[in-house]
Amino acid sequence: MLPSSSSSSLDGDLFAVMADAAPVMIWMADADARRTFFNKPWLDFTGRPFADQVGSGWNEAVHPLDRAACMDAYLTAFHDRRSFEIEYRLRRVDGVFRWVIDRGAPRTGADGVFAGYIGACVDVTALKQSEARLRESESQLRRLAARFESAQESERASVARELHDELGQSLTALKLELARTVPDLLKQGIDPGAIDRLQSMIGIIDTAQETVRRLATSLRPPALDHLGLAAAIELEAAALARRTGIRCRVVGNRRVAKLDPVQTTAVFRIVQEALTNVVRHANASAITISINGTAASTSVKIRDNGRGMNADQMADPTAIGLLGMRERAELIGATLSITSNPGKGTIVSVVASAGAGDEPQRT
Ligand SMILES: Nc1ncnc2c1ncn2[C@@H]1O[C@H](COP(=O)(O)OP(=O)(O)OP(=O)(O)O)[C@@H](O)[C@H]1O
Ligand SMILES: [Mg+2]
Repeated sequence: MLPSSSSSSLDGDLFAVMADAAPVMIWMADADARRTFFNKPWLDFTGRPFADQVGSGWNEAVHPLDRAACMDAYLTAFHDRRSFEIEYRLRRVDGVFRWVIDRGAPRTGADGVFAGYIGACVDVTALKQSEARLRESESQLRRLAARFESAQESERASVARELHDELGQSLTALKLELARTVPDLLKQGIDPGAIDRLQSMIGIIDTAQETVRRLATSLRPPALDHLGLAAAIELEAAALARRTGIRCRVVGNRRVAKLDPVQTTAVFRIVQEALTNVVRHANASAITISINGTAASTSVKIRDNGRGMNADQMADPTAIGLLGMRERAELIGATLSITSNPGKGTIVSVVASAGAGDEPQRT
């Protein structure tokens, strides 16, 4: 006997009591997909009498935009005797459409013959709304990170310019003045000790000039703006080799697609972080950087022959450097992959496509 709200069997009554007490909406259908039972939560939710919903009357409360797809999925699953899960909007008693997830499964009678379906339905509107809010705040966070990144990058560029142009030129002028003063003082027969001190001041200015140049370059490599991404990476590689003694080759066709300045900077910063990681963690003796480009995209691969990483290290959520590389790549619509195995070195690969960056341009 089919349990239904009008069933008089003991099993049916027990089922109806249980179903009415359940915290979800429950329905049953016969072998012809006609609904024959709705529990109290379903009837309370829809606010329509059982007689109006029995058979296929229930689907009048399905949102008109969802009805065709809902019925199609429902009847197709019925036809194939498959379990199904459908998401649709169902009109509540107050007239508001709520998103529900409706799961149905085929059932058999006591004789083992297919007897129809039983299903349970849950209101997931609140869940959907909080998912949407979460997605929105994630995207706000991303936009904020992009703006912060952009502001930081232009700040760096302007500090680099000030350092180079203002401080650098003042030091040069000071050095020239001092250098011109020395012969004058010599002519006047000034104490040679004082002259020595002046010469040593000139040496100090030389050192300060070198520091200013280094600082300005590390803030914003001039090559990035004047010579382009490939040249800036080559200079970075040469400086790394000089500093650390690690062999560092740049190979590939070295062509770079028309990336916008935001993309160019992001790719360069990814390369810098990858190289810093090799120096700090890999204990490598050689690095190969391949730069290959077409008109549409640029690929940069940094491969080292060092100790490598395991999967846990690569997925570590506290690895800010690795996360930062991924985040930068995402911001400019690039793909980033890190391939590594313990003892087998590491490859960091970034591929950026022209026109894929959608953030405002920066210096
Ligand atoms: N090329 C590499 N070879 C071997 N291990 C690496 C390499 N790159 C990263 N790692 C490992 O992955 C970890 C995480 O790297 P990540 O750049 O996120 O952090 P970090 O370099 O330790 O610190 P940070 O970059 O924040 O200054 C490193 O601590 C290191 O153990
Ligand atoms: Mg790092």
